[in-house]
Amino acid sequence: MKEELENLRDAALSGIEAAADMETLEALRVGYFGKKGEITSILKQMGRLPADERPVMGQLANEIRGEIEKALDARKTALEETLLERRLIDERLDVTIPGTPVTVGKKHPMTTVLDEAKDIFIGMGFQIAEGPEIELSEYVFDKLNTKEGHPSRDRQDTFYFDDEDKIVLRTQTSPVQVRVMEAQKPPIRIISPGRVYRKDEVDATHSPIFHQIEGLVVDRGITFGDLKGTLNALVESLYGRGTQTRFRPHHFPFTEPSCEVDVQCFGCGGSGCSMCKGEGWIELLGAGMVHPNVLGVCGIDTDVYSGFAFGFGLERMTMLRFAISDLRLIYENDRRFLSQF
Ligand code: DAH
Repeated sequence: MKEELENLRDAALSGIEAAADMETLEALRVGYFGKKGEITSILKQMGRLPADERPVMGQLANEIRGEIEKALDARKTALEETLLERRLIDERLDVTIPGTPVTVGKKHPMTTVLDEAKDIFIGMGFQIAEGPEIELSEYVFDKLNTKEGHPSRDRQDTFYFDDEDKIVLRTQTSPVQVRVMEAQKPPIRIISPGRVYRKDEVDATHSPIFHQIEGLVVDRGITFGDLKGTLNALVESLYGRGTQTRFRPHHFPFTEPSCEVDVQCFGCGGSGCSMCKGEGWIELLGAGMVHPNVLGVCGIDTDVYSGFAFGFGLERMTMLRFAISDLRLIYENDRRFLSQF
């Protein structure tokens, strides 16, 4: 039995030394120490030995078992180290390799101006209102005091959906005024940004789709002075403190009196340049005191309430703000252009 044990040890030690991976090592361990393992079965045979041999053989067997266990542990540790080293090499990162550049997007210049305008108005206590782009002519025209036959209703300029001209792609954001006044009682302070549509050919200053921001204030005792103060505050916030405005008489069906508001040219400071076409002033928006007919149609008592309204083109505002010379640049989404803002 002694020889048997020693042979077993030698075979085991060289087998363990040669084990190239964890699976082989584990198979060896089971082969020796498992239920049917070689060491296990030798130990079981101990009982059959003559009594005087038992202690000696028992001791030897235990020693050998210890040696094999130690060898298994040592090999295991060695294999683990090798594995780790290999992984470290395989997964090594060269942090000096230049990365793939990530291009971060930016706000479209028109979104920038829209966000600024929203901030300014929200700061003055306005709320943002929305209305449909596919609208009833009733709301785009009739309820805004724009009668049958008015030039702005012309089929040449307006996208109608039906033969009776009842449904239309809104040509202005003004119908939102009516929708708001029908839905809520004064005091009302809203702006309504949105898309509008007109049958225009595309050129440097025209597009069949563009954007407006509508404004409406209705309350007790609202005067033209409130209109001027509000619009001056807007202009100064957008174009700088001290920027001059000019209110010119004009006509809109839904306001009385009506005006157009010009801003002193920030290209030349008013002396005349190519930006203002020598005028010294740049037209910015239309505005006025809400016509009593419009208030009346919306069920607002004109003896108690008055209001002002205004509307401006967002593209125009953006072009002035960033000195963009051609409207088409705003829609082309050429990244070489957009990345400049
Ligand atoms: N809706 C007008 C347009 O498209 C702009 C406008 C003028 C809106 C006067 C108003 C206003 O609310 O009071 O040209």
